[in-house]
Amino acid sequence: EMMVELLGLRKLGDDLAQTLGVSRVIVVAGDSDTEDWVKHSFGKACVNELKSIVKAGDVLAVMGGTTLAAVARMMSRDDVFAGTTFVPARGGLGEKVEIQASTISAECARRTGAAYRLLHVPEHLSAEAHESLVLEPSVRDILQLITSAAVVMHGIGDATHMAQRRGSLDIFTNELSRKQAIAEAFGYFFNAEGQIVHKQRTIGLQLDELQGKHVISIAGGQSKAAAILAYMKHRPSDVLITDEAAAKAILDRV
Ligand code: BG6
Repeated sequence: EMMVELLGLRKLGDDLAQTLGVSRVIVVAGDSDTEDWVKHSFGKACVNELKSIVKAGDVLAVMGGTTLAAVARMMSRDDVFAGTTFVPARGGLGEKVEIQASTISAECARRTGAAYRLLHVPEHLSAEAHESLVLEPSVRDILQLITSAAVVMHGIGDATHMAQRRGSLDIFTNELSRKQAIAEAFGYFFNAEGQIVHKQRTIGLQLDELQGKHVISIAGGQSKAAAILAYMKHRPSDVLITDEAAAKAILDRV
């Protein structure tokens, strides 16, 4: 029975990879909307993926969110992490400290025995403050490290949910719905066609800098089906780690 289930999940992953144009989709059992352990299965899948691609000296960039926070809790010591450094991919996006990219990066490092660097930047920077901050030598150093990342791990959120969670003003939430934002990733918002309709101003990795990096997207739950589909239209990742509920809901939509 276990075997039949595994084959079923593999088939779902292959179908989804084809549909989304993603090289590889790993589907785990369950629905992360309702079952907490599913996010830990994402973590196991992600660690396996890292073990097969990470090389000594690599910089590994992580984004924030509850999914990545759960993934971090599944990391453990392994030789592949010797000489690697975890960094947050982007600066503050208005999240609680537990699910900020910096916190998650430090947690990954603590569990794996890797090194880490933090990126301290305030949220909601004015254009002027932003411009001068990126010229600060200490900020420039860490930004260079982030840009050099070989691997990027990130979550994908439902646009409305993310705007609300980040305590965004009503005006902003209304603007996002007027622009028909469906998905959020890296602080960018996307419509159903995968076009960028809004971007939160923060420093760190920009979407157009993902080229040549091994990008692992981790997102699941039936409620995120539309968001995952929209983001993958923007830019199919190298690997998508998702769950059965999201995978089925996406395939139902296309
Ligand atoms: C955020 C990331 O912190 O988490 C986003 O910056 C992502 O890129 C979001 O969309 C997903 O959050 P969660 O809690 O659903 O994993």
